[in-house]
Amino acid sequence: MPAKRDGMMTVPKFAAAKEKGRRLTMLTAYDHLWAGLLDEAGIDSILVGDSLGMVVQGRPTTMPVTLEQMIYHGEMVVRAVERALVVVDMPFMTFQTGPTDAVRNAGRILKETGAAAVKLEGGVNQAETIAALSAAEIPVMAHIGMKPQSVRKLGGMGRIQRDEERLLDDARAAAEAGAFGIVLELIPQEVAKAVTAAIPIPTIGIGAGPHCDGQVLVGPDMFGLSGFEPKFLKKYADLRGTVIDAVESYRADVTSGAFPGPEHSHD
Ligand code: KIV
Repeated sequence: MPAKRDGMMTVPKFAAAKEKGRRLTMLTAYDHLWAGLLDEAGIDSILVGDSLGMVVQGRPTTMPVTLEQMIYHGEMVVRAVERALVVVDMPFMTFQTGPTDAVRNAGRILKETGAAAVKLEGGVNQAETIAALSAAEIPVMAHIGMKPQSVRKLGGMGRIQRDEERLLDDARAAAEAGAFGIVLELIPQEVAKAVTAAIPIPTIGIGAGPHCDGQVLVGPDMFGLSGFEPKFLKKYADLRGTVIDAVESYRADVTSGAFPGPEHSHD
């Protein structure tokens, strides 16, 4: 049953959810079709993640994703959405080169897609940039813990980040610099609990346990479409099996002559 609509989700409403004890829901989407479905089902926020590098483009990492590609996907997602808060990821090397580049590139994302906010990977190391974005009236969500754009430095994806002091410093720095929310990726649940208690902005977990203020999953993973099944994932459907079954039935019908039948044919 579609969730009750209570108006547009905005950045202030999203940020205020923490104080109200209202858990936030977020999923990724990369195109108009899926974004429309997620919005209709009442999701609070849609992330146009740079995970599209892997999920949509079939690449091993997010690193090759470009600003133009994020704008291309972000714009079609925004057009499908009536209610959810759309957040677009800033891809690798669109903000790491400094606050001036970050403001210019984030400004393009907001102007050319109509999204409400951007997300970038970093905490202490991006505090200056988060502050510059906030000063430019660009709402920004931070992302700490396992940061896929740091895959070269980390030596691989999927490594749990356990340094509590460092994570607390990152979260506090992002919040103090003006971030309105923060993604915690792949950190132990007790560390996520401590981080969530330490900052006034909502924490959105992925592989970070139940104590966050909200949760995000990669849509095609949770629909059982991508075949990627990490420990932290709960699959809510098996669309991969459904699609493969449907294609096999279609193949069988066309090759046997069972489709199209008279009911699908014009006189
Ligand atoms: O790119 C992405 O989809 C993300 C989520 C995993 C949070 O950053």
